[in-house]
Amino acid sequence: MVKISLIEKKENNLFVKWSDGEKSNFNYLWLRDNCPTAHDKNSNHRMFNILEVPLDIEAKKCKINDDGKLEVVWSAGNHTSYYDQEWLRKNCYTINNKKKYLSPYQLWNCSLQKNLESISIEHDEIIETEEGLIKWLELLHYKGIAIVKNSPTKDKSAFKVLNRISHTRETFFKTPFEVLNIPKPNNSAYTAHALRNHMDLPWFENPPGYQFLHCLINSAKGGDSSAVDAFAVANYLKNNEKEIFETLVKIPLKFRDKDYTQEAHRSFYAPAISLTKDGDFNDIRFSVATMDALDCHPDLMKEVYEAHHRFGNLLHDDKFQIKFRLVPGDIFSFNNRRILHGRTEYDPNSGSRHLQGYYMDRDEIIGRLSFLKNLNKKKAL
Ligand code: OGA
Ligand code: ZN
Repeated sequence: MVKISLIEKKENNLFVKWSDGEKSNFNYLWLRDNCPTAHDKNSNHRMFNILEVPLDIEAKKCKINDDGKLEVVWSAGNHTSYYDQEWLRKNCYTINNKKKYLSPYQLWNCSLQKNLESISIEHDEIIETEEGLIKWLELLHYKGIAIVKNSPTKDKSAFKVLNRISHTRETFFKTPFEVLNIPKPNNSAYTAHALRNHMDLPWFENPPGYQFLHCLINSAKGGDSSAVDAFAVANYLKNNEKEIFETLVKIPLKFRDKDYTQEAHRSFYAPAISLTKDGDFNDIRFSVATMDALDCHPDLMKEVYEAHHRFGNLLHDDKFQIKFRLVPGDIFSFNNRRILHGRTEYDPNSGSRHLQGYYMDRDEIIGRLSFLKNLNKKKAL
């Protein structure tokens, strides 16, 4: 194991040299805040209050003690801290900040169309085995898309397989929401019209992280599905059309739709592409149907429309999108803030079409996956 080979007190931090030659700087306030006694043993929540510590706190004395702990006697608060070397190394922000970020996302384009089996998973495999559930969750997290095959086609029957992951996310469209051709629809999804590639509910502050469209009946002419990895399109722009990419990241668009009363509206501003702290893709906001009349600064409108135009056209480009037809028993599952979905127009007089839709938060997918992977790791030991 790597050990501390040298400690030096500096003005604001403790300088540490490791046996493998790495160097760390541990800020005094950071060290004091992360004293192992700072946390409650059961909840692991921090009970200690750093806000009461003077900002000029420093190490009065420090050494590696006989137990191999880094021992720090503090200049304020009459306290001594004992740090585990392995913990310090693992949590060293000097070293961790130098590591190259690796994205979990496997971006895809139209070539996925030839290999739809790679994103398919049997319903019963998910119900009966943990491996099946993990495979579904991994597809959702890494590729953003999965098609569950051969599910039952009874009303609301997708709850059972979805609850293998977690609870669903409620909205005023109800759960499930019924994707049917109805008179006086409150949403264009509830018509027989074509739906261009879009995400659902971009006018929410926090649009659902995942969406599940369970196909019960699809015997009408038309109504074929499409999907596009908008992270892949964003990545293409980032590498090839930097100015357009920057505009999409920087300038908020406005989305709006009717709320459940059908009389009031809700709206939300967000850029088309948002990034994580590591510069990875976080969210996409795109829906031609619910983008409001934009009200950005007049000097920006031309640039915003040019970027929106380019992004929107690439999101419908056959180099990027895939096309497929849902059959009864399919659950088309996808990351709603990454993968845009659409359908072609259908003829409601030629047959029937009925999908039931469900939403789930991203936390549920990622949380369940990391729980199961951890559990599996423990089992293997
Ligand atoms: C929706 C939707 C797709 C379809 O309900 O939001 O996009 O295939 N439906 O009907
Ligand atoms: Zn939709």
